[in-house]
Formats: sequence, C-alpha cells, structure tokens
Amino acid sequence: MPFALGPRAISAGYRHAAFDQIGSTNAEAMARARDGEYGPMWFVTSEQTAGRGRRHRPWAAPRGNLASSILEVIDVSPAVAATLGFAAGLALETALQKVSVEASLRSAGSDDMKYSLKWPNDVLAGRHKLAGILLEAETLPSGRLAVVVGIGTNVVAAPEGTPTPATSLARLGVQVGAEDLFAALSDAWAEFRDIWNDGRGFGEIRRLWLERAAGLGQPVAVRAGATIVEGTFDTIDDQGCLIVRKADGHRIPISAGDVYFGSAASAGAV
Ligand code: BTN
Repeated sequence: MPFALGPRAISAGYRHAAFDQIGSTNAEAMARARDGEYGPMWFVTSEQTAGRGRRHRPWAAPRGNLASSILEVIDVSPAVAATLGFAAGLALETALQKVSVEASLRSAGSDDMKYSLKWPNDVLAGRHKLAGILLEAETLPSGRLAVVVGIGTNVVAAPEGTPTPATSLARLGVQVGAEDLFAALSDAWAEFRDIWNDGRGFGEIRRLWLERAAGLGQPVAVRAGATIVEGTFDTIDDQGCLIVRKADGHRIPISAGDVYFGSAASAGAV
C-alpha cells in the first residue's frame, strides 16, 4: 500500500513525497527547503538507513517502521518554533490512539491502549519508548525559518539496549501498517498545527500536553551534559521548559536534557 495523506491534510493543502528507502527524511526535508521548497510538505518512508535522533544519536528505522518529517517554512523565532514539538507529540498520540482503536476493533479485542508524552518529545507505551521526535530549524537566506519536525515510530521493530527500553506497535499487539499510521498522523498534525497557530496557541497545546504527560508530579532526574538535576516534575512553562521542583522548593527550568523517572531517577539517572 502506498503512503497517502489523510482527508483533512489533503483539504488543508499539505503535500507529501514518499520514498521506498532513504537516508533520513529530516535531511531530505531540510535539503529541499534550501532548494526553495516551503511546504507544508511531508517526507515519508518505511525504511530509513541514516536516521538521526536527538542529541546526535542514530535512529534506526528498519523496513516496516514509520519515518516521517513535516517541513514548514515560517516566520517565527527559533524559540517559538521549538514549541511545535509539543504539538507533534499530541498529533502522534492522537494518531496512535486512532489506529490502535481501529486495530482492536478489527481483531475483536477490547484492550484500551494508553500512550503518554515524555518531555520533551517522546511517546511512551507504559514505561517503554514507542516513538521519538526530532525538531530541526535553519534560517534560510530569505530570513525565514525552515522547520523540520521528524517523527519516528516503532511500528514493527524496536531497538534493543537503549537507555529507555523501547517497544513497537507489533510487540504491543497493535497490528497496523506504517501507511495507516501515516494517514492518521497527517490528519492529526493538521489539527494540532492549527491549534498551535504559529505559537499563538501554545497555551492550549501546553494544557493538552500536560493532560497526557508521563511522570507529572513524580520524582525525576534530568541529565543535561555532565549536570544532573533531581527533584519533582512540576510542570512545563510557557516556553516548553521542564520545571523541576527541588526539595527546598526552588523551581529549576530546563530547556534540554534526558529525563529519567521512578527508580532510574532515584538512582541519579545512571
Ligand atoms: C529521538 O531521538 O527520540 C528522535 C528520533 C527522531 C527520528 C525521526 S525518524 C524521521 C526523522 N528523520 C530522521 O532522520 N529523524 C527523524
């Protein structure tokens, strides 16, 4: 089955380019932006050979997984663009819910699959990482900002030995193809991109994101380089920073880092 956009994405004017195999959909999207493409346009494949993750980590996408990137060229600051990652998390969680319900109806199952959002940009199923989001931005010679939001979902396979254990939809018993998930994601993206509204709607995105946040109010350790901040996951602020409340009541805003909950948090994020 070929990749196709959902009906909402089509009527909102989105386009897409699908690849049988590609190095990185993020790299392709940014290269197209440098060549004059301004989107909104999806780049999608079910096999990515040189995928990249957050903090310069590789992101393997063996055949059957979903690697997708949306390119938008917009007039916002890089700090505002960074908050688009939260809208992406909401879109992906919505799409995952939709395809999971449909798959469970097809198999006459009754499992209520629950996904949550882990700061800054992961989607979890239980304690396992199911998907990751990498947002990249570059100022073009025109002065406009090319923003690429790359979304990788473990559909049929998950990597082993990762710092946060990973899972896949197949392992969760959700029998769905990357193409179905992509169609649902493209529609959900159109919905949450509208709410985000070039950052003007981040208040509403933040509210919706916090409703689905993993670990809110729980012990957390955040590692940023050599620094580890430990405390309680209090909230995210109006710029998307994670707020850690220390035992003495101080609230520390964190703009980037790896988050550990539960026993991993109390073990100092090792
Ligand atoms: C993470 O580290 O959690 C983010 C992973 C993001 C992977 C996606 S797959 C589609 C897009 N293309 C890439 O090269 N990376 C992103």
